[in-house]
Amino acid sequence: MENKVATRITGTGSYLPEHIMTNDDLSKIMDTSDEWIFSRTGIKERHLAKDESTAFMAAKAGEKALHDAGIEAVEVDLIIAGTITSDYVTPSLACEVQEKLGAVNAVAFDVNAACAGFMFAFHTAHVYLQSGIYNTALVLGAESLSKIMDWKDRSTCVLFGDGAGAAVVRVCEEDEEKAGKKGLAGGRGILAFEQGSDGGKGMVLNCCGRKNHNPLVKNPWMPSYVSMDGQQVYKFAVGTVPASIQRVLDKAGLRVDDIKYFVLHQANIRILQSVAKRLKADIGKFPSVLDHCGNMSAASVPVLLDEMNRKGMLEKGDKIVMAGFGGGLTWASAVVEW
Ligand code: ACO
Repeated sequence: MENKVATRITGTGSYLPEHIMTNDDLSKIMDTSDEWIFSRTGIKERHLAKDESTAFMAAKAGEKALHDAGIEAVEVDLIIAGTITSDYVTPSLACEVQEKLGAVNAVAFDVNAACAGFMFAFHTAHVYLQSGIYNTALVLGAESLSKIMDWKDRSTCVLFGDGAGAAVVRVCEEDEEKAGKKGLAGGRGILAFEQGSDGGKGMVLNCCGRKNHNPLVKNPWMPSYVSMDGQQVYKFAVGTVPASIQRVLDKAGLRVDDIKYFVLHQANIRILQSVAKRLKADIGKFPSVLDHCGNMSAASVPVLLDEMNRKGMLEKGDKIVMAGFGGGLTWASAVVEW
């Protein structure tokens, strides 16, 4: 798709719950070990929410992103949250964050694309901004996955963590001088994106999560935990993600070598290694927060991005690929010039 109006990320933020649960802590409450978890996933520990709600974490991440972007909450026109663990069915997580931040001028809603949720929200914000409807978006990825885990199922609960990440996305102008005159951010920003879904394979990673209160229904019980066919998810990820990244690079007219970092959803270190191998890219270009965060679904990409930003790993003009993939099944990739 040809860019009409350019948009770029002008600020990032993240929040991780205070409580840390290590692999050794887990091995005290279930039959598992640090060796099993770390060797298969790259995870050493994860943050789990005790008192923090999803909205609390998302608002903290959003506040930091606004601060990093140097803007006030009232300047935000649009808030989109990627989540599958909002505190309420309604109000949405985005509406809760709007209230907490005092972003009174924003329209706010959630998207449900599981681990691709932040990327779907990011692309949606980009399209709204590109079409001239809004100027400034706050995009969130936030999850309290600990509340939808079966803590007796060691094959799933050891993989996930809680947290929130955020990015401010604004209309920008490539020419720095013109940008300054118009009061816009300078730069090229999002160069290309692509995304897809395969509902036919949805049940390989599912969570019902709601009791049916309809009096006409005889059996209202539904499983409310995440259930996953790990090997099918692995096959999906290592096949679909490199293909999606290659397509988005083609759209942007770029090659793997042009990309400084691949900022991927953090499901499993072996998935990152396999994607790097298939793209013939150096694994050093795949930064990770897996060791200390685990898989945070929609929060993984923005938490990683914020960590990179805060470490000073991103310089103006760097080209990065961001990609999410997960339940639905869903996937989404973008090429971004920082
Ligand atoms: N500790 C110790 N043993 C365990 C644990 C555990 N936490 N979990 C499972 N096992 C055992 C199993 O019971 C099984 O034992 P058995 O052989 O006696 O039956 C053995 O380990 C092997 O189990 P598998 O499920 O076959 O393990 P596998 O090698 O496939 O690894 C894993 C599981 C890591 C989940 C792998 O399938 C994987 O990497 N999948 C990718 C999917 C993924 O990362 N999903 C994350 C969420 S989805 C997303 O974000 C897109």
